[in-house]
Amino acid sequence: MIKEGSEPAGAPGRVRPRRLRATRAVRELAAEARLDRGRLIQPHFVLPRERGAEDVPSLPGVRRLGQSELLRRVEEDLEHGLASVLLFGLAPEGAKDAAGTHSAEQAAAVPAAVRALKRAFGEDLCVFTDVCLCAYTDHGHCGVLAEGGRVANDASLEPLARMALAHAEAGADFVAPSDMMDGRVGALRDALDGAGFEGTGILSYAVKYASAYYGPFRDAAGSAPGHGDRKSYQMDPRNAREAEREALLDEAEGADMLMVKPALAYLDVVARVRAVSRLPLAAYNVSGEYAQVKAAAERGWIDEAAVVRENLLSMARAGADLVITYHARDVALGGWL
Ligand code: PBG
Ligand code: ZN
Repeated sequence: MIKEGSEPAGAPGRVRPRRLRATRAVRELAAEARLDRGRLIQPHFVLPRERGAEDVPSLPGVRRLGQSELLRRVEEDLEHGLASVLLFGLAPEGAKDAAGTHSAEQAAAVPAAVRALKRAFGEDLCVFTDVCLCAYTDHGHCGVLAEGGRVANDASLEPLARMALAHAEAGADFVAPSDMMDGRVGALRDALDGAGFEGTGILSYAVKYASAYYGPFRDAAGSAPGHGDRKSYQMDPRNAREAEREALLDEAEGADMLMVKPALAYLDVVARVRAVSRLPLAAYNVSGEYAQVKAAAERGWIDEAAVVRENLLSMARAGADLVITYHARDVALGGWL
């Protein structure tokens, strides 16, 4: 037996890794990480009205959609093998208040869209809904405020649970809390079970960093904080051990799936969470990551299809089972994987 590494320097001899790269057919056999469109989740920004579409300048190719435009788009995506969506809602003019009350109303953008999607596509479509108050509070924070403007943890759990219930009632398959309050997965699980929604799942944004990569999303959702930042509830980018702790806590509280977000700057974290949990793991390829690729591609500086494929494969290789990405549609329609 020749041990790898025992070859004399400069002479490859009998051990030749290139044999496994020789032809396309061999490369297909030897490929380790694989990703297909069945593992992609397409995010959508839903307008609080029946019709219309609005461009988002910082997210080229992504539009805020009225209900009928959303239905048309999802129908086309389904035909191309994209069967999962993650919905974010926008608040109507003047509907924001300190507690984000509108988020729990059946008339809000997300419950209305969920009902319409489920009526049209039923079980052919898996609907995830983002649960967070920041697009519905007048201060733009993800929970309610205590005196002094700090985000109050425990007082935020009830409005978040009400929002999740509204989504479950409308027919969401999974609610996805992105607020980063402690204990919210357990609070949502209790509220759902208490109301007879044992079958509604929870995809937890378990490991969500306080990241500068969310900028374009906040333009799209109108959810930027009016004062301060989100560092007292979202994670510090320096921490990875803490990511394992967050993931295990959410698993213990009853999460069905976990998420790491953002993806590309945190692939080490994806791998670490993969190693400590048996739950399905999603990586969120966030708005700023998408915008960077789009901007470089528009200038002709990179090959968009090839770079997107490489980025998404890096997430699968790190251990993500699912990828949430604004590229999903282009990937599916263009056959980029
Ligand atoms: C809401 C939320 C955010 C994202 C998903 N849900 C923004 C934030 O936390 O400020 C970011 C997604 C993206 O950048 O694509 N809490
Ligand atoms: Zn939020």
